[in-house]
Amino acid sequence: MTKLLMETEKRIPTHVSIIMDGNGRWARERGMERTMGHVAGVESVRACTVAAIEEGVKYLSFFAFSEENWNRPEGEVSSLMKLMFESMQKEFEMFVREGVRFIVVGDREKLGSAMCGIIDNIMEATKNNSKLTFVLFISYSGKWDILQAAKKMAADMAAHPEKNVSEADFGNYLATAGIPDPDLLIRTSGEQRISNYLLWQTAYSEFYFTPVLWPDFREADFKAALEEYAKRDRRYGKVK
Ligand code: FPP
Repeated sequence: MTKLLMETEKRIPTHVSIIMDGNGRWARERGMERTMGHVAGVESVRACTVAAIEEGVKYLSFFAFSEENWNRPEGEVSSLMKLMFESMQKEFEMFVREGVRFIVVGDREKLGSAMCGIIDNIMEATKNNSKLTFVLFISYSGKWDILQAAKKMAADMAAHPEKNVSEADFGNYLATAGIPDPDLLIRTSGEQRISNYLLWQTAYSEFYFTPVLWPDFREADFKAALEEYAKRDRRYGKVK
């Protein structure tokens, strides 16, 4: 059987997006600092990346830090920023070697210059890679994105009042322009909500909720989510 035929039969999602949740609870259960849950969570990001490449997923994205997360205690915010910075430094070579394109989406204004610098370097170095596009949402929220898109659109329309903006055109104003909408959205730790993530882009995503805490979510869990996705009947509001 050809690989293509097997993939068609398995119905591999093009874009899998993940709300990583439960790091704090994972750490508390072990009597550790919350930060240790985030450190363990980075290993889950790595495991899912390997599994996504193996399975032929083309886009893998993670909600790493929301606009609301800026309101966490200062110590947790700075250790999360440090962890993300160090993880990017560590994985830079892997992205280049494995043919992974790296993208960060979010409100850059609150990120420091060192963080913006490393993001720009990795994005530039990996821009022609095509095996997998790895997207980190940092300082992102769905409402922020829709608002900034609406502002850009309003400015464009003031200059070109004759313009008729379609849904597809509006998508091009979003910070996720060029990234296909998620086919599958996974949230770990038993919570079943969208938490101001990709509000516009998940209009027809399949949702997969699992009680597994993020640091415990590894390759087998990722593959189980893909198996479940393959069974879903996506009708997009139509009758089949
Ligand atoms: C949610 O758990 C997790 C986060 C807010 C941060 C996740 C970020 C990472 C693991 C870093 C990944 C970065 C790179 C560069 C790979 P929580 O703290 O809300 O857990 P709780 O609900 O149990 O308190």
